[in-house]
Amino acid sequence: MVANETGHSGQKTPPSGGRRLGVLISGRGSNLQAIIDAVTDGRLDAAIVVVISNRAGAGGVDRARAAGIETVVLEHGAFGSREDYDAALVAELRRREVSLVCLAGFMRLLSPSFVQAFPNRVLNIHPSLLPAFPGLHGQDQAWRHGVKVAGASVHIVTPELDAGPIVSQATVAVEDSDTSDSLAAKILVEEHRIYPEAIGVVLAGRWRIDGRRFLRI
Ligand code: GRF
Repeated sequence: MVANETGHSGQKTPPSGGRRLGVLISGRGSNLQAIIDAVTDGRLDAAIVVVISNRAGAGGVDRARAAGIETVVLEHGAFGSREDYDAALVAELRRREVSLVCLAGFMRLLSPSFVQAFPNRVLNIHPSLLPAFPGLHGQDQAWRHGVKVAGASVHIVTPELDAGPIVSQATVAVEDSDTSDSLAAKILVEEHRIYPEAIGVVLAGRWRIDGRRFLRI
């Protein structure tokens, strides 16, 4: 199913240049909310021109609508293959001239053709200190492993899962009293802080990639 909805409140007119964000979500959308708040507060000079969810019931869709952001629900079950689904995603993003794609709890692998459509222009937030604990439930993996320091990473998306150049990281101390859930909550606070900041850094454009390294210039 493909559904479009345009909200009516809030956001300022989207800029035309390279500051048009497309945010991809699957769930509650707290990182999306952090980005919305940063744009609204003027901490992030950008506009979210579309939020795309692969799940109709995602809480983040409601957050986007409440902020007056256009939403698209693109359910993957309606497509025959990953390539077809990703081509539809690319078309929705290109139609809105999105300059930077931000994955915010988007629970799907993206094909190489999607990544190639936005070279070095897809970011992801991951709840671990990469390259440790890629994949699902990074916080729980870290807690079970018994690490003393955990954290969050923002990275550029490449075809390999959670493996692209790291833009930004933040650490949290793991206390003996922490549970998997309390650790995840501490990490989430840092996610909300570093993701909008990292988006601003990438949009500002004074960086280059050297091998695996993201370097400010
Ligand atoms: C976050 O922990 C993020 O790091 C991971 O998925 C979760 C999404 O949470 N990729 P939310 O939907 O942003 O609240």
